[in-house]
Amino acid sequence: MSSNKTKVTVVGAGAVGASCAEYIAIKNFASEVVLLDIKEGFAEGKAMDLMQTASLNSFDTRIVGSTNDYTKTADSDICVITSGIPRKPGMTREELIGINAGIVKAVCESLIKHSPNTIIIVVSNPMDTMTYLAHQVTDLPKNRIIGMGGALDSARFKYRLAEALECPISDIDGMVIGGHSDKGMVPLTAHATRNSIKVSEFISDERLNQVKEETKVGGAILTKLLGTSAWYAPGAAVSGLVQAIACDQKKMFPCSVLLEGEYGLSGLCIGVPVILGANGIEKIVEIKLSDGEKAHLLESAEGVKKTNALLA
Ligand code: 2OP
Repeated sequence: MSSNKTKVTVVGAGAVGASCAEYIAIKNFASEVVLLDIKEGFAEGKAMDLMQTASLNSFDTRIVGSTNDYTKTADSDICVITSGIPRKPGMTREELIGINAGIVKAVCESLIKHSPNTIIIVVSNPMDTMTYLAHQVTDLPKNRIIGMGGALDSARFKYRLAEALECPISDIDGMVIGGHSDKGMVPLTAHATRNSIKVSEFISDERLNQVKEETKVGGAILTKLLGTSAWYAPGAAVSGLVQAIACDQKKMFPCSVLLEGEYGLSGLCIGVPVILGANGIEKIVEIKLSDGEKAHLLESAEGVKKTNALLA
């Protein structure tokens, strides 16, 4: 049997939602994943297909599909919101706000009705603004609303760093903070390491800058190649956050959280390092940033605030 009794709901059974459910199930730490979609039969079909991988992939997590029946989500410990439209090639995440804000608001209201003490992980774009919206709609304490972007952007950063250093990705450590947008991401190049040695010891400033730029457009490059937004890495990133909470791991990830003075910012959700455990955000970690990184984070926050202002 899976090791704990965590119930997870994933709203949206599209590519991202289904990948979230798959990676959560494969890691075998949750008892149940409820997959919900508005399209008749779609979530049920995805859930059945995934359940038919259980004996092959050796997991005991039960995946249940439902066409928008929120009673099935009752008493979820963690709810992941992936609903909304993904971006098409050439679109920014910010351009999705009109449609996605209405969807995310309705989803939050339905979730909270059946799981008033849940922890919400927001994936829908523009993610930082949708995370802020989730606060406005649910009134949950700030430790229970988490935006997923930094974990994904950091994975893309590590991929690009390993490529530049011509080394295994497992040698690399690095983090991306700031807004989850092409301009807003702040890859912390000065803090990135290969086995505790700064990556700047291995590659030129010029190459490091190139890595930074490639990281920022990581999602856009994939959208162009795929014709829609990515799903494997977003799904894997979400499963990492869910596992850290479900298993009270106290792991550090950059996540979008409501700031109240940290990093000199308040009244918005943006990516900063946090510790994730059973209570959701256990702590916001304030690290020392260089003047350049600080300026970039402030600029990124201005961008997020501009998008937040588009909320009705
Ligand atoms: C991305 O691929 C889903 O925003 C997401 O960057």
